[in-house]
Amino acid sequence: MNMALLVSDAMHFRVDYEINPYMRTEVQPGQAAAVVEHLSIVVAHRAAGRRIEYLPSSPECPDMVFTANAALVRGDRAVLGAPPPERKAEMPYFQDWLINHDFDVVEAPYAFSGQGDALACGDLLLAGYGQRTDRRMHAVLERELGYEVVPLRTVSPQWYDLDLAVAVIEPGRTLAYCPEAFDEPSRRRLSGLGMDLIEVDVEEASRFALNLISDGITVTMTKGAPKLAAALRAHALVVVELDTTELAKGGGGVRCTALTLDNPLPSRS
Ligand code: ARG
Repeated sequence: MNMALLVSDAMHFRVDYEINPYMRTEVQPGQAAAVVEHLSIVVAHRAAGRRIEYLPSSPECPDMVFTANAALVRGDRAVLGAPPPERKAEMPYFQDWLINHDFDVVEAPYAFSGQGDALACGDLLLAGYGQRTDRRMHAVLERELGYEVVPLRTVSPQWYDLDLAVAVIEPGRTLAYCPEAFDEPSRRRLSGLGMDLIEVDVEEASRFALNLISDGITVTMTKGAPKLAAALRAHALVVVELDTTELAKGGGGVRCTALTLDNPLPSRS
């Protein structure tokens, strides 16, 4: 299955501030270990046949390795993220990259965590709010990208981005999620989609188990979540488990380090 991903690198990855509950400035990633960890993820994507685009990180942007927050892309349009002030300096780099690669770029009028809070699932968009994304962004995403939004509210900063709490395994068919991460209406909305739902417990989810990339054939995910890995294998998926201990110090994992560039346009029936 085709998939194109924008990655950066971990050359300048540091914990300079604490904007999610996993970050602690006294626990810094090892620089060489982080670079190797990130490269191993990229190598795994390539081995799975995914196309990789690369934007070098900038020294003043310690979180730039987490490219998922830069935007949400569909077809040739991108809605830029509007991150917390600590990460604003990243945005011009991503904006320029997207413009130089012929994307129509739209700025977000409200707080928006990019793909971190907006997971494409065919023509549906699983869209987080209440933490880093203002709910008013949902109408913007519907209008600009043509998605049908499924609003999902996570219940605490532990799930500051939606991509820690739910994962698209196969659009239209299978999702994995952590029920405790969501309020009751959101849980009902997820069950109402009629897809197969794999439940992940809080323990595995808070180790970034759901922060994975699946193309419906291969799932690239963190090590340390054996129950989810087994459930995915039982769904006949190839599961590649990687170390993400350094990225975890910034509060992220596999999914956060790759912005999907080829989310399909509306399917016509
Ligand atoms: N330290 C980064 C932040 O707090 C981590 C972002 C992880 N990205 C994600 N899509 N969950 O912004």
